Amino acid sequence: MLDTLHLPSAELLARYAPLAAVEVASPVRIHRAADVFALWEAWEAEAGALQPVPYWAVPWPAAVVLCRLLLSQPALVRGKRVLDLGCGGGAAGLAAALAGAALVTANDIDPVALYVARRNAEANGLELAFDAHDLTQDAAALQADAILVGDLFYERGPARRLLEVLRACVARGVLVLVADAGRPFAPQTGTEVLAVATVPVTADLEGVSSRSVRVQRLLAV
Ligand SMILES: C[S@@+](CC[C@H](N)C(=O)[O-])C[C@H]1O[C@@H](n2cnc3c(N)ncnc32)[C@H](O)[C@@H]1O
Repeated sequence: MLDTLHLPSAELLARYAPLAAVEVASPVRIHRAADVFALWEAWEAEAGALQPVPYWAVPWPAAVVLCRLLLSQPALVRGKRVLDLGCGGGAAGLAAALAGAALVTANDIDPVALYVARRNAEANGLELAFDAHDLTQDAAALQADAILVGDLFYERGPARRLLEVLRACVARGVLVLVADAGRPFAPQTGTEVLAVATVPVTADLEGVSSRSVRVQRLLAV
C-alpha cells in the first residue's frame, strides 16, 4: 500500500534522473532516469514510504515522436491553445511551446508528474499552465484548440470513454493528435496517420528495446 506521496528532491532528481534531451539532438530537455528502478528505490528511501512507479521519469515513445512531429511541423500548434493530456514529464507540451503554441496546459492526475513537468518547463525556460483534474470524462472540460494524447489508451474501459470525449472535441473543430505505441485500445479507424517511427525504449520497463509509434489525427466521423 502507498503511504504519503513525496515530491522527489532536486538532489534526487539530479542524481537519478538528470536533465537530458528527449532524444539525440532534440532541444527538449527533461529529467529522465537511466535506471528507473534505481530512481524508484532512492525515491522511496528518501520518502521513507512506498511510492508509485515513477512513470514521469522517462519520455514515453509516444512523446518522443510527438516532439519530433511538432518541431518539424510547428504549424500544427503555432498560435494555438494546446492541452497535453496525461502529460507525464511534459515532453510533448514542451515541444508544442517551442513550436510556438500560444498557451500550453500540461495536465496529469499524478501530482508528482505535474511537479516534474513544472521543473522540466523551468529547465527549458518555457512557461506552461498546469492542470491536475481528470479531464477525460467530459468534452466540455477540454478547452483547447489542439489536444496531444501520448500513450494514454492503455486500459479498455477508460480508452473507450476517452475516444468518445475526444471525438466530441474533434466535432467542434479541435485538432486531436493521438500518439501510441501499438496498444490495442488506441483508435484504429477514423484517423489520418501523420507520422510513424520506431524509437528506442527502456527495456527494463517495457521488456523490448524499441517500439513503433503512430501519431494519428482523429477525424470527425
Ligand atoms: C504512459 S504515461 C504517458 C506520459 C506522456 N504522455 C508521454 O507520452 O510521455 C501516461 C500518463 O497519463 C497519466 N494519466 C492516466 N490517466 C489520466 C487521466 N485520466 N487524466 C490525466 N492523466 C492521466 C498518468 O499519470 C501518466 O503520467
